[in-house]
Amino acid sequence: IKHIGIFTSGGDAPGMNAALFAVAKTAESYGIKLSGIRRGFEGLIDNDLIPLNSRQLQRIMHLGGTLLKTARSDRFMTALGQQKALRTVQKNNLDALIAIGGDGTFRGMLSLANIGNTPFIGIPGTIDNDITGTDYTLGFDSAVNTAIKCIDNIRDTAESHNRVFLVEVMGRDSGYIGIYSGLSCGADSILIPESDEDITYLLNKIKNYDSEDAFIVVVAEGDALRVEEVMSQIRNVNPHIELRVAKLGHIQRGGNPSAQDRMLGIRLGVLATTALIEGESGKIAGFCNNKPSLSPFEGLVKKHLINTELKDLLTLFCG
Ligand code: F6P
Repeated sequence: IKHIGIFTSGGDAPGMNAALFAVAKTAESYGIKLSGIRRGFEGLIDNDLIPLNSRQLQRIMHLGGTLLKTARSDRFMTALGQQKALRTVQKNNLDALIAIGGDGTFRGMLSLANIGNTPFIGIPGTIDNDITGTDYTLGFDSAVNTAIKCIDNIRDTAESHNRVFLVEVMGRDSGYIGIYSGLSCGADSILIPESDEDITYLLNKIKNYDSEDAFIVVVAEGDALRVEEVMSQIRNVNPHIELRVAKLGHIQRGGNPSAQDRMLGIRLGVLATTALIEGESGKIAGFCNNKPSLSPFEGLVKKHLINTELKDLLTLFCG
């Protein structure tokens, strides 16, 4: 391998720049040229490439977002888009590709692999923690830490007024950010898409809420019930409480990556690059049980599973 192309795709996640830095450092140590493809699959279609080196990336590896920019590409869903992307790979003599992103990114890479035969490795980068092949995705830890800071702030004011707060966190249809941030902040109730019982727990608890303390409810955005619906169900069982809503939104996606995410970016960047050098392809570079781990794309499914240990914690603290 003489030349690797790398891109970030889908939602940005803190730690992506650290992973770019690690790939550049590893590639340089093997004398391999590295090109960055800007705006994910869009840049692959438009032949939008820039040279990358570890010196420039070292200076921004501590920043959130992605130097390469990112996009969700509708054009790449078409056969024409995929052909154009393949032409970019061939024109620039890219011997291998590294894609950093979520499940949409990996599905895109599988389509590209079906029409060309460029080796590729995926690095799971999304705040949602919904990709198999790794215990944690890049950006999840930072997003949870940001959510925690916000919920702690909300608690200060909620306790002062004895108010009920509904705090909506991100995660698409995964409840990981919800359950991690909720448990870490001592939430009274956590609603996640993976549980049907949580709304019953909430309504039972809040029926008898006496307004002598704050009451914090963390709602994962992918829950079957939207925040507005939860509000009206709460009002039905207890009409007298003071209710406020805070949607944390994209605040959770930004900010400097946590130490965990910087280390994860470094580990996965090194693993992805060395895997390509060793002739691997079609794999996800992950970190499982405290060890770097490669797993095949074929078995790739979105991880929706909150395990029983987490479910038991949810029942103990919020049931
Ligand atoms: O997948 C990451 C994520 O932040 C989800 O948690 C959220 O639902 C979605 O992206 C928001 O997407 P966009 O930035 O396109 O609004």
